[in-house]
Amino acid sequence: MVDKAVVAFSGGLDTTVVVKYLQEEYNLDVVTVTVDVGQNEDYEDIEYKAKNLNVKNHYNLDCKMEFVHNYIFPSIKANSLYQKKYCLATALARPLIAKKLVHIAKKENADVIAHGCSGKGNDQIRFDITLQSESNLPIIAPIRDLNLNREQELRFAKKHGIKIEKLAKRFSIDQNLWGRSIEGGVLEDPYNEPEEDLFLWTSTKHFPEEPTYLEIEFEEGIPISVNNEFREEPVQLIKYINDKAGRHGIGIVDHIEDRIIGMKSREIYETPAAMCLIDAHLDIEKMAQTNHEIRFKTMVDDEWARLIYSGLWDEPLKKNLDIFINSTQRNVTGSVKIKMYKGNSRIVGRECKKSLYNKNMITYGSDSDFDQRLSSGFIKLWGMQSTEANKLQKNV
Ligand code: ARG
Repeated sequence: MVDKAVVAFSGGLDTTVVVKYLQEEYNLDVVTVTVDVGQNEDYEDIEYKAKNLNVKNHYNLDCKMEFVHNYIFPSIKANSLYQKKYCLATALARPLIAKKLVHIAKKENADVIAHGCSGKGNDQIRFDITLQSESNLPIIAPIRDLNLNREQELRFAKKHGIKIEKLAKRFSIDQNLWGRSIEGGVLEDPYNEPEEDLFLWTSTKHFPEEPTYLEIEFEEGIPISVNNEFREEPVQLIKYINDKAGRHGIGIVDHIEDRIIGMKSREIYETPAAMCLIDAHLDIEKMAQTNHEIRFKTMVDDEWARLIYSGLWDEPLKKNLDIFINSTQRNVTGSVKIKMYKGNSRIVGRECKKSLYNKNMITYGSDSDFDQRLSSGFIKLWGMQSTEANKLQKNV
């Protein structure tokens, strides 16, 4: 009897080549799994492609809600930006996809699990760590195992009559609801400016003539509506912001990133909703949290992003950090108003239900209830050691 492989399948170059390789070189029956995390693909077409490859079975799993609730929302609470720039769109989806692969592998009584990651990137780490902790099945990654390069893959695809779309020939692209990641090709020279046709979610030239306002409402750190719409529809909420902010050119990131295995890579992202939501969330946290909480949480957020980036979604430390982060969100309830206009986005207003911002105290008007005379004693004590040290230094 022929052994069976379950493989993550997107219909793109890598995973298509993998299916063919598994069948031809490894003599395996193949079952493909496409996990819908909002990549907005034509899933019927993907199924058609899979069937054309003579797979034994194909699964299309709609996991958008799970992706939003269990992966994107925690990342908003953690203001998650790896190296201050990358919203982790790809990194967040990988553990979810890997868990679904294990689920289908069990259902199908498969003998191996396969994926199309290369041995150079981060995704292999994220897939493998989740796969190996959720199942004992062997993992095959043909592109890594056979040390294939892109030219070899393209040649292999051509030989087998596999059609690859134009953009996918030039770049390696991954996308989901939270963002679009683009790398490779001419972008590998970090001085090369990306060509405009690369951007599909964000305008780079033509913007709406009027500003667009987004009023984002949060409840305990989670966005629950935008412009008073999309309650209970978090997938639509994120899509809406992607669309509105993208039209104004918000959310393009071009940066140099440190991969887990030590290489530096040049990455381009389109992440309009992530940028707006994290920006807004950070802003409302500043209303709700004490100075001490904010300073400490910044470090925790950074560590959270580093763990997720490095494939350690199920690491106990990450779960501990989640408990801390959740407990900091109790008062992060309110609204933030963002104004976007022709490539520019800024927060123009905010209100928080349990705010530490105290207008009566801060006001310069006559209605202030703060006695300014209190400050001079505070300053003496606050600066006491520094003042003393400086005096000693200068022999004053
Ligand atoms: N550098 C990003 C990450 O490691 C994006 C990877 C995207 N993958 C791709 N095939 N383009 O999460």
